[in-house]
Amino acid sequence: MTARDTTGRTASQQFTVVVFSADLTAPTLPVSSFAYSDARVPLPRHFTQNAAGGGGSPVGADNTPATNAITDAGATLGRVLFYDRRLSLNDGVSCASCHQQAFAFSDTAVLSTGFQGGRTGRHSMGLANARFYNGGRFFWDERAASLEAQVLQPIQDVTEMGLTLEQLQTKLSLTAYYPALFEAAFGSREITTDRVARALSQYVRALTSTDSKFDRAFGANGVPNFEGTFTAQELLGQQLYSGRAGCARCHGTNAHISDGVHNTGLDASITDAGAGNGRFKAPSLRNVEVRAPYMHDGRFRTLEQVVDFYDRGVQNNPGLDPRLRTPGGQPLRLNLSLQERDALVAFMKTFTDRTFLSDPRLASPFR
Ligand code: HEC
Ligand code: HEC
Repeated sequence: MTARDTTGRTASQQFTVVVFSADLTAPTLPVSSFAYSDARVPLPRHFTQNAAGGGGSPVGADNTPATNAITDAGATLGRVLFYDRRLSLNDGVSCASCHQQAFAFSDTAVLSTGFQGGRTGRHSMGLANARFYNGGRFFWDERAASLEAQVLQPIQDVTEMGLTLEQLQTKLSLTAYYPALFEAAFGSREITTDRVARALSQYVRALTSTDSKFDRAFGANGVPNFEGTFTAQELLGQQLYSGRAGCARCHGTNAHISDGVHNTGLDASITDAGAGNGRFKAPSLRNVEVRAPYMHDGRFRTLEQVVDFYDRGVQNNPGLDPRLRTPGGQPLRLNLSLQERDALVAFMKTFTDRTFLSDPRLASPFR
């Protein structure tokens, strides 16, 4: 505001005016906190130890920093932040607008819609088991060096949520419920962006999916009994996935998460360089059945289309990953029969974890 007197002299002062959207509510949280910490929600054996016959434990790829282990109060705060539309400039979208639990924390749209109706540059990523991505870099192109760095970016993104970190702090401190949640999580009522980043990261790392049909094939000793669990078709798919079709070479461990960025030959000439040379990471394939469309640009609508692509669609380009080339350097052709293709799809559907998709611990606290 600027005031001017009769002689023309002026005095100015700046105020931030926050008017919350009228339809926002306060979160409803359980009286005794949900459990998120490893101590209260132990990872199953096939996630923590390697045993014969499985795909290997993902725990070696755990990207949790020593300074930000999951606590019940930290992840509770993270859950509230994740679902709170106050994290966008016009209270229009929350993280969950583009990362929906029913779709394994991805979005059914090819490109997601931001707070002012703009579209994201790439397809939203599923967040299940993000904790087990080796190296801990985030986004399709790994541009964020850690999850703690990643989670602040959508908030500031001009298309996605459109807030400055200063505005974020101001808005959160004007609510009735955040100061107490910050105190429970971090010991004082102070709201800082570092604490926001840590809490959101704890919640995202708590999105572990470990109760699919695939997981239930493993005994308490971490050894799988695929024969006794899967249909003949799923079993054939499992054998192809970890054998002749070579999928496990990139989508590895019992969390089916990629080991790094790869150029998979989606196109002969690269339009999106990703992490350089057309390389991208793939999120864990857990719950892949429910989170179409697929790939960084959402180009495939079905898992059948994805397998057909690996079967005979891989394009030659200078960056094409050696794992998708013949020894002579040509793009690999798998020559799958229709029966084998469908078996691979059936096997990927054993990664669907209904418990995870409806777990109240991970759902919105806003009515
Ligand atoms: C408007 C839609 C939108 C909103 C809102 C949004 N995201 Fe995303 N998210 C995306 C898209 C699109 C990508 C992939 C972008 C890319 O890689 O270029 C992504 C990627 C991610 C990733 C990377 C996953 C990985 O494995 O690398 C994480 C983590 C994530 N988002 C968390 C969040 C959090 C936390 C919030 C809220 C603070 C949020 N997102 C808000 C659309 C959105
Ligand atoms: C060379 C490593 C590599 C191999 C081998 C490989 N993939 Fe992938 N896969 C990737 C990468 C990288 C992506 C992400 C590519 C992108 O979006 O540009 C991906 C994406 C996918 C997706 C979509 C994931 C999503 O979130 O949209 C599915 C499903 C998939 N792969 C299944 C398979 C199957 C089935 C096989 C075996 C027939 C296989 N992959 C072999 C690296 C690989």
